[in-house]
Amino acid sequence: MTAILTNPLRVGLRQERVIPPQCLVIFGASGDLTHRKLVPALFELHRQRRLPSEFAVLGCARRPWSDDDFRQRMGEALAAEIAEHPTAWEHFSQGLFYEPVDLQQSDHLVRLAGRLDALDRLRATRGNRTFYLSVSPEFYGSGCRALAGAGLLADPERSRVVIEKPFGRDYGSAQALNKVVQACAKESQVFRIDHYLGKETVQNILVLRFANTIFEPLWNRNYISSIQITAAETVGVEERAGYYETAGALRDMVQNHLTQILALTAMEPPGRFDPEAIRNEKAKVLQAAHLANEEEAWKCCVRGQYSAGGTKEHPLPGYRGEPGVNPNSTTETYVAMKLFINNWRWQGVPFYLRTGKRLPKRLSEVVLTFREAPVHLFDAAGGAPTANQLILRIQPDEGAEIKFEVKAPGSGMRSRPVDMGFSYDESFGEPSDEGYVRLLADAMLGDTTLFTRSDEVEAAWRLYTPLLKLIEDSPWQIPVHPYEARTWGPGASDNLLAEDGLIWRRP
Ligand code: BG6
Repeated sequence: MTAILTNPLRVGLRQERVIPPQCLVIFGASGDLTHRKLVPALFELHRQRRLPSEFAVLGCARRPWSDDDFRQRMGEALAAEIAEHPTAWEHFSQGLFYEPVDLQQSDHLVRLAGRLDALDRLRATRGNRTFYLSVSPEFYGSGCRALAGAGLLADPERSRVVIEKPFGRDYGSAQALNKVVQACAKESQVFRIDHYLGKETVQNILVLRFANTIFEPLWNRNYISSIQITAAETVGVEERAGYYETAGALRDMVQNHLTQILALTAMEPPGRFDPEAIRNEKAKVLQAAHLANEEEAWKCCVRGQYSAGGTKEHPLPGYRGEPGVNPNSTTETYVAMKLFINNWRWQGVPFYLRTGKRLPKRLSEVVLTFREAPVHLFDAAGGAPTANQLILRIQPDEGAEIKFEVKAPGSGMRSRPVDMGFSYDESFGEPSDEGYVRLLADAMLGDTTLFTRSDEVEAAWRLYTPLLKLIEDSPWQIPVHPYEARTWGPGASDNLLAEDGLIWRRP
């Protein structure tokens, strides 16, 4: 009898679930993501003994590599880990294989199908396959068509396809891509990946909100006055100019990662903890979200681009001076914006999103600011009393903290703010897994909870449509302000909040 991939609903959503026998096929195996993220994540799963022994990874790309070439290249990328765990690598690398494949060539697909059957026999992977499209985004649609045309997605219980970001470039292209993908596979077979959802602290937003009684009663417009979501990076564009020049921060970070954090922060409690119930609530809240001023979108968004900065010892080039970047580029490396969510819970509460490259710190966080006490009975030691805040620290220093007022020591009755914190590191003492570890395991388990459904991805694109249109039709209305590398973005982004009497949190 042939085992089929495990249904997540049957095994429940406990942490350690058993990944069924299968072959993970990576298209784009010669690319960066494979050796930087995917194979390291699989090796980690192997070391955690979460991969079955009936397992294979088949790398596919156009290069004419052999199995040994592939193993060697992956080994070079993982040299440090292998030095610590040589035996584990020896065992794991025996399950790595390679097949030269061009997805556009039908005879290659026939050869691929034959190789997969051979691997099923060799590694007892039982016809269960997860296809990972780590290829250039313009090939997502044709890649799915090619797999479906070769009959490789025909069995919804045994075949799945993982699609990297960006899923589309705007609302229209995301809709068109969804149509193609859905003609090739059932929605339950499709895993649109956003690696932020693999982060422990992003998932913790759900647990913090829905496993406690102290937060949820306050989690609404009656008690919360504003929400800030920040994803700050210290790195510049690195070697990714080719991709980044066509994307920019809005498409690269806001439409996906920040919007997913927004959805988890703002969604209603699901009726039960299962993939569809959660994704229904996320889709609903994104459908209710809109730019603070859709007609005059330039008023609620600031774009920036880093210019040269750093120190004498460590000078940093500006974005336009980075290798591969057009010296007159108007691609934004920074975005700040203001949104509202038009529903009973959030009406009138501003959500401020910001992200940027070459900022002074690497940090992602959600800051919920509560309404001030209606009456100030006490003088504040530091001037004005501060509003209570709940800060969800997504990375680094994963955890959460609450800021509240206490009596300042001394004879008077003055208040001053203090922090009460929780740190993953201190409480659990072990580093969390990389997002890809969790997400690859979930995809191989068939658990779609942490993957974006077709309606969610469309709602996320629709939210930013007025801005994308403006940038395309009249870019002068939404200029790219320069900001010096290693500063907190252009001054205009401070004005966005100053108009509401607020400031960005400076961690
Ligand atoms: C990727 C973006 O999705 O996320 C990159 O394409 C960005 O530009 C990266 O640097 C940030 O991820 P993390 O996990 O380092 O915050």
